[in-house]
Amino acid sequence: MPKAIKKLAVLTSGGDSPGMNAAIRSVVRTCAYHNIECLGVYRGYEGLIEGDFKPMDARSVKGIINKGGTILKSARSKEFRTVEGRQKAFKQVVDADIDGLVVVGGDGSFTGALIFNQEFDFPVMGIPGTIDNDIYGTSHTLGFDTALNTVVDAIDKIRDTASSHNRLFFVEVMGRDVGHIALNVGVAGGAEEILIPEEDLGLDRLVESLNRSRTSGKTSSIVIVAEGDKIGKNIFELKDYVDENMEGYDVRVSVLGHMQRGGAPSCFDRVLASRMGVKAVESLLDGETNYMVGLLDNKMELTPLDKAIKGKSKINLELLRVSDIMST
Ligand code: F6P
Repeated sequence: MPKAIKKLAVLTSGGDSPGMNAAIRSVVRTCAYHNIECLGVYRGYEGLIEGDFKPMDARSVKGIINKGGTILKSARSKEFRTVEGRQKAFKQVVDADIDGLVVVGGDGSFTGALIFNQEFDFPVMGIPGTIDNDIYGTSHTLGFDTALNTVVDAIDKIRDTASSHNRLFFVEVMGRDVGHIALNVGVAGGAEEILIPEEDLGLDRLVESLNRSRTSGKTSSIVIVAEGDKIGKNIFELKDYVDENMEGYDVRVSVLGHMQRGGAPSCFDRVLASRMGVKAVESLLDGETNYMVGLLDNKMELTPLDKAIKGKSKINLELLRVSDIMST
């Protein structure tokens, strides 16, 4: 019989993403709704090791659903990767009478949660929070939708300059290992070409595509490059390549960087975070552990953490074809 849960803790870990605050709010208020205590853990696993906890009640999370970042702060803890670090964290958890932990983060954060469970038989539940959307078991991670909107807005602005000056812009977007952001914003922003890690389109195809654009009468172009793309040249080398090998292009590079991770979460991310928080807390109360909550077919579903970590999120290759047709 699992121990009855009277007190839960919530932490945010890894890269921040819009919607994390909405998820904290949801976890805290779901705890309040079920009359159990809730502690916020500061700075992810670092705070768990140091016992940096703060009691949170329903009112303590007012006015945060619309805020980017995370009020609990985030960190990538090296110490938690060691047995000694995790032992310290477990002592803190026992001393504070915490019965279960909700971890909002990406696959690295889930790996930490899973090991913590395996070593100490401690109940854990994951909420996927990363703009990259690279987690198996959910169609959307928290922050992905907001990041898409942020990036599309940036591309629209860049296009103003591209078309005023007849320029070619290479725009780098986030996505360390995956091209979900690149693919979606490429289609939504009307990019002429999209370079993603999952498909090495090769330089020849890029050149061919740019030439095709020009002969079709286009005077400016935007190429979206995912930061993890595998074409073999970074975005500045791509510019140099075009400068050296193609006539008459005025090329610029824009690396969007961390602005993609900030800002107020979209309506979609706020709703998703609220649903995920409820599901995470209620699953722990039902005695479930080692799962991640996710959105599948518009329902909240649980996926075992090890599957969420190891499974591959699939890119929608149909979008690549749509983009090809749209850039005709
Ligand atoms: O995983 C989210 C992400 O934003 C990636 O897209 C990016 O590669 C990475 O985090 C950047 O991490 P940091 O903020 O540590 O530089």
